[in-house]
Amino acid sequence: MAEFSLPKNSRINTRGKVHKAAPEASKVKKFRVYRYDPDTGDNPRYDIFEIDLDKCGPMVLDALIKMKSEQDSSLTFRRSCREGICGSCSMNLNGKNGLACTTAIEDLKGEVTITPLPHMEVIKDLVPDFTHFYAQYASIKPWLQTVTPNPGKERLQSPQDREKLDGLYECILCACCSTSCPSYWWNSDKFLGPAILLQAYRWLADSRDEMTGERLDQLEDPFRLYRCHTIMNCANACPKGLNPAKAIAEIKKMEAERIV
Ligand code: SF4
Ligand code: SF4
Ligand code: FES
Repeated sequence: MAEFSLPKNSRINTRGKVHKAAPEASKVKKFRVYRYDPDTGDNPRYDIFEIDLDKCGPMVLDALIKMKSEQDSSLTFRRSCREGICGSCSMNLNGKNGLACTTAIEDLKGEVTITPLPHMEVIKDLVPDFTHFYAQYASIKPWLQTVTPNPGKERLQSPQDREKLDGLYECILCACCSTSCPSYWWNSDKFLGPAILLQAYRWLADSRDEMTGERLDQLEDPFRLYRCHTIMNCANACPKGLNPAKAIAEIKKMEAERIV
C-alpha cells in the first residue's frame, strides 16, 4: 500500500519565539506569524508578536513593519507600494488571502494568524516563490499582438470597446485568487489558474488585438482552461473586487462559439 507523508519542511514546530510588548503597552494585539528559513535546516514555526496598537498604524502591513523594525529584523515579507497597487504584500490573514497593506487590523478578530499564500513553495517566512506563476503569465503572451501593418500612430479604440477592459485591467497579479482555488492547488503544473486566465481574457477582450484565434487555440486544453470547475473561491478572494470566474466563463463561451 502506498504511504504518504508530508515533506519535513511542511511540518510546523509547535514552539516558536514570543516577542512580548513593552510592559507599559496599553492596547496589545497578538499576531501569530509563520516563520521559515531554509538555511537553518529547521522546520517552520509560528512566532508570537505582541503589538501595541496605540503605537502602530492601522493596517496589517504597519504591524509587520513594526515587528521587523522593533522586534525581529530577520522577519521577511514583500511589500512596495502600501497602496494596494503593486500586489507584493499578498498573504493569508486569519485564513483568507488578502493584501497586508489594505487589510485593517481592526477587521481581524482575536489573535491574527499570518501565513504565506497557500500551496506555494516558500522561499522564506511570508515570501512565496512566484517563478511558476510568472512563467504561466508569460505563456499567455500578455501584450498587444497585431498582424496588420503598423499604422504609424496609436491603434485607436472606441470608448465602448475600452469599457470592455474594465474589471480586467485592474488586476495587480497578487495571486490571491489562484492560491485560493482548489483546482489550482492540485493542478497548478498544468492549470493556468484564475489570475492568469483573467489576464488571458484581458487580451481576448481587447478590440485592438489581432491574435484572438491563436490565443484561443493556446488555451483550449482540458487542463490549462477547463480545469476550472466554477468553485468561485477566486472571486471571493480578490482584494481588488474582480471576478476571475466570470472572465473564465467568457473564455469558455468564446471557445464554444467558434466551434458552432
Ligand atoms: S471558479 Fe474556477 S478558477 Fe475560480 S476558484 Fe473556482 S475553479 Fe478556481
Ligand atoms: S484577479 Fe484579483 S486576486 Fe487575482 S491576481 Fe488579479 S488582483 Fe489578484
Ligand atoms: S504593498 Fe503593494 S499591494 Fe500591498
